[in-house]
Amino acid sequence: MKDKLANLKKEILDYLKEVKDDQVLRELEIKYLGRKGKFTEVLRNLKNLDANEKKEIGQLANEIKKEILDKFKEVKNIISGENNQNKNIDVTLPGKKIKAGHLNPLTIIQNELEDLFIAMGFMVLDGPELESDYYNFEAVNIPKNHPARDMQDTFYIDKKNKAGEYDLVMRTHTSSVQVRAMQKYGAPLRCVVPGRVFRCEAIDASHEHTFDQMEGLMVGEKISLVNLIAVMKELLKGIFKKEVEVRVRPGYFPFVEPGIELDIKCTLCEGKGCPACKNSGWLELMPAGLVHPKVLEYGGIDPQKYSGFAFGLGLTRLVMMKYGINDIRLFNSGDLRFLEQF
Ligand code: PHE
Repeated sequence: MKDKLANLKKEILDYLKEVKDDQVLRELEIKYLGRKGKFTEVLRNLKNLDANEKKEIGQLANEIKKEILDKFKEVKNIISGENNQNKNIDVTLPGKKIKAGHLNPLTIIQNELEDLFIAMGFMVLDGPELESDYYNFEAVNIPKNHPARDMQDTFYIDKKNKAGEYDLVMRTHTSSVQVRAMQKYGAPLRCVVPGRVFRCEAIDASHEHTFDQMEGLMVGEKISLVNLIAVMKELLKGIFKKEVEVRVRPGYFPFVEPGIELDIKCTLCEGKGCPACKNSGWLELMPAGLVHPKVLEYGGIDPQKYSGFAFGLGLTRLVMMKYGINDIRLFNSGDLRFLEQF
């Protein structure tokens, strides 16, 4: 028993020599002196000794315990003394620099666009990225088995509904929010919908499976292409900080009639022709058109009374044009060297 006590004492004192921080000290205290501690257990077993032994060893044990407790106190003081020294902070030293983050260039342009549209009386709306086949396709006049479905390579979700159909998709465009917005707010209506869209694309420098669009929708009495072009010119002035020349070509989308493609004069070469515009002097900016009467009907709006325009601005593309970014894959790369430039 005496040996046991002596060994324990040595063990504890050896450990105490090494201890440098409070946490470890406390763990040590629990390990030996806690309720289930090794040393406590020895003390507890004293009661099983006979009377003489109990007296002698009991006394020894108490002395050792006192010694150990004193040592613990001493170490504790040393440690807290050191901590106190650390608390003497030199307030004249320069502080630690907190590195501020960066807005993604997409967010920068999205914020700018939102401000511009809000100033023109548009609401900024949101919609689900996991969308029903109905809102993504049917409600924008693309029925099942319509060849126009092939225009957008779609991620279908591998889950059938009660009728045995695949009825969920990752939305392929923000046009999926058109009918949602009409159903919710009715006419007249002005809104933009920025957001991520998804296509099952082979990825290269100009194609991504995930990119951003901004849908625009304006419904009211006597809304025509003139309104659309006026809004677009205002928008481009805001983005490029100068008057930008536009041209309109016919384009096909099932949810607009007539459909157009809006091009802008190349902002790099001012229309003279350069690699960015493939020497044509023009850049494709966005498809648009007047909302198809059927889509208005799906939205619960009377096409006899109201008309509207819609556009599908390629937000990612616009950001690439504005900043001269030549590889779309950079956006989802998470590469700080890319992001820190903005
Ligand atoms: N939703 C179409 C696309 O992503 C773009 C578009 C929107 C065209 C609105 C016309 C009107 O391809």
